[in-house]
Amino acid sequence: MIKLTEKNPDQAGADLLVYFVPEDDGRKKPACRSAHVVKALQHPWKEGDFSGKEGQVYQFYPADCPKGKDGIRATRALVVGLGTLAEQGGKIREQLRIAGGTATAQARKCKAAKVVAVLPDTPGLAPEDAAECLAEGLILANYLFAKYKKKLARDEEPFLVKNFLISGSEMPAKALRKGMKKGADAALAACVARDMASEPGSSWTPLQFAEYARKLARRTDLQCTVLDKADMKKLGMGGILAVNQGSAIPPKLVILQYRTSKKNPTLMLVGKGLTFDSGGISLKPAAGMEDMKYDMCGGAAVLAAMEAVAREKPANLNIVALVPATDNMSGPAALKPGDIITHYNGATCEVVNTDAEGRLLLADALAYGIKKYNPDAVVDLATLTGAVIVGLGHHMTGLLSNNDNLVEQILAAGELCGEPLWRLPLGTEYTKQLKSEVADMKNIGGKGAGTITAAAFLQEFVGDTPWAHLDIAGTAWNFTEKSYVPPKGPSGIGVRTLLALIRNWQPI
Ligand code: BES
Ligand code: MN
Ligand code: ZN
Repeated sequence: MIKLTEKNPDQAGADLLVYFVPEDDGRKKPACRSAHVVKALQHPWKEGDFSGKEGQVYQFYPADCPKGKDGIRATRALVVGLGTLAEQGGKIREQLRIAGGTATAQARKCKAAKVVAVLPDTPGLAPEDAAECLAEGLILANYLFAKYKKKLARDEEPFLVKNFLISGSEMPAKALRKGMKKGADAALAACVARDMASEPGSSWTPLQFAEYARKLARRTDLQCTVLDKADMKKLGMGGILAVNQGSAIPPKLVILQYRTSKKNPTLMLVGKGLTFDSGGISLKPAAGMEDMKYDMCGGAAVLAAMEAVAREKPANLNIVALVPATDNMSGPAALKPGDIITHYNGATCEVVNTDAEGRLLLADALAYGIKKYNPDAVVDLATLTGAVIVGLGHHMTGLLSNNDNLVEQILAAGELCGEPLWRLPLGTEYTKQLKSEVADMKNIGGKGAGTITAAAFLQEFVGDTPWAHLDIAGTAWNFTEKSYVPPKGPSGIGVRTLLALIRNWQPI
């Protein structure tokens, strides 16, 4: 679906040929390798109608140009503005991703099935990395969830680009291919997570998580274990079982392992797999409740990342992924406010609000996973609190951790892949907010610092293990406006951050 072409792009047959041009900083001519495009841009550039600003597009029909088909062979030509190219780092990578997303959006608008995209010169970024980011943007924007759309008007018919070709002319083909593969792997994995999340709560249940993992293990060298309700009872996973009490659908704890050598460190990933959050007896308001099918985005991110791990096979790490999965319903046997439950590690919890359920599941999964797999570091992802949206909006993921080194690595990974995070503090003052009169703790921390008290609850279950918690409630859907993220619906957040973290892993 995405390939390298070593032909002269102007001579390539395509429905759409795309060039990327940096913003005009006093230049008389746009910086573009095609003399034909520079010619076509002569007037738009002079008049200031197209100056290479981020998001700007200029499309034309080469056949109408003086040289006709001797100039550019493609049916349509598109120029996409990159903005002023950053010198280095995450910014320039994001510029390429955004530009790739803009190109795909334009291609979809004019139903261009075959797109040739020409990699621009990026002094601050190696060709391999540029190819990675461009491929990522092109593919991430080529996403659609139309499975349940049966009656579409003709002009509503969903369109996706079928073939992307990237041209890098004089750049080394081997490096470009390597970069493109990295970008495509990451983007496709994020799209897998989006697909899972887009399914309604009744179609994507704990069983679907389990089946996805089992199938993945069958066709790769991952190992899959699924703990069911009876296993959980035996093991004493009172948190997951409590949340599941009000449901007619049994819970699962889905585990995927990627094993290399015992000598390598083990990274443990945990994702909240709450397939629908009604709030339980502490029922949520009706408005917007349908979005609570997305409460499994942490679990989706973790499993989708494992799919990419199975493909890339990092040599320096063991990875184990756990997804505690259930819905949170208010059936006749439902958990009641005031109930006291016992977690896997023996700690008791007074459930004051049944809508603070994510932490109950994660507590068991964290304690069990740490005991069983003895990881060197733990990262959990969860749509855990509405409070993180109050604090950070839909632009950044909340990050809370007991380990500065792990924080640095995660912040760097987020920066590399355009999924920014912001660290919030932990501390005994916050943990104190969870004090209960009748149990070891309660599941809500009262007024103030909702995201932090939720993380402080989890912290009780990780001991000294280096651990980081990503609160993705604000970013898992309705993520900040970007060309390569659907404006509505799940973003696939976390998948690429996890992959970047794994690819660049440094022992803690
Ligand atoms: N899944 C929700 C958090 C959430 C809210 C995600 C809005 C995305 C958008 C979580 O289970 C929850 O209900 N949290 C409560 C906790 C509260 C009762 C302490 C919340 O944030 O309101
Ligand atoms: Mn809830
Ligand atoms: Zn929830």
